[in-house]
Amino acid sequence: METHAFWLVQLFLFVLWVNGLMTLGFTGAHQQVIVCNESLMLEKLPRCGKSFEEMMKKVDSKKWCNLTEFIPYYDNFSLCTEREAIAARCFWPNRLAQGFIIGIHKQFFSNCTSEKVHWEDPPDEILITLILIPVFLMVTMISLVVWCSKRSDILV
Ligand SMILES: *[C@@H]1O[C@H](CO)[C@@H](O)[C@H](O)[C@H]1NC(C)=O
Ligand SMILES: *[C@@H]1O[C@H](CO)[C@@H](O)[C@H](O)[C@H]1NC(C)=O
Ligand SMILES: *[C@@H]1O[C@H](CO)[C@@H](O)[C@H](O)[C@H]1NC(C)=O
Ligand SMILES: *[C@@H]1O[C@H](CO)[C@@H](O)[C@H](O)[C@H]1NC(C)=O
Repeated sequence: METHAFWLVQLFLFVLWVNGLMTLGFTGAHQQVIVCNESLMLEKLPRCGKSFEEMMKKVDSKKWCNLTEFIPYYDNFSLCTEREAIAARCFWPNRLAQGFIIGIHKQFFSNCTSEKVHWEDPPDEILITLILIPVFLMVTMISLVVWCSKRSDILV
């Protein structure tokens, strides 16, 4: 009887602890979304576009569709947008930043055929991963709780 109570208390404390962890995790992610200063980000992003434009001027416009020619600049541009988004406490990538990046793509790569420039689009994948991590965590935690409760049944 005493051991039974002991395991119940342990389980109860564990569930509380898990709850605390998850609440912390969720409000943490939540705050980042709320605090995101979109106007600040939109204010800063054109600088990235500007410096990308400057760098692209060095590349012959006939070679604008050759990924090998501009990938270092594009990398720089991509890092720049990421830096500015994070400085504005926004997730990166996000819808607004993506809109801006698509505008840049249109400006430089509108004449490139998809065979020449192959854009893999990580943004959505990253976003899905960001969404799935807490879900996986929750499932793992719930499985742990279930496993522990089963184990306590066995032990009692
Ligand atoms: C967002 O950034 C702007 C500058 O673009 C600033 O004036 C404003 O106070 C910021 N808002 C918040 C909530 O930090
Ligand atoms: C792209 O640029 C690289 C480096 O300048 C060059 O070696 C390659 O042949 C170019 N590819 C095409 C399809 O023009
Ligand atoms: C990236 O851009 C910054 C300016 O925006 C420049 O100082 C730096 O040299 C660039 N880096 C590369 C690898 O092109
Ligand atoms: C795309 O092609 C059009 C027509 O040939 C031209 O006017 C425009 O400047 C080109 N845009 C880019 C980004 O190369």
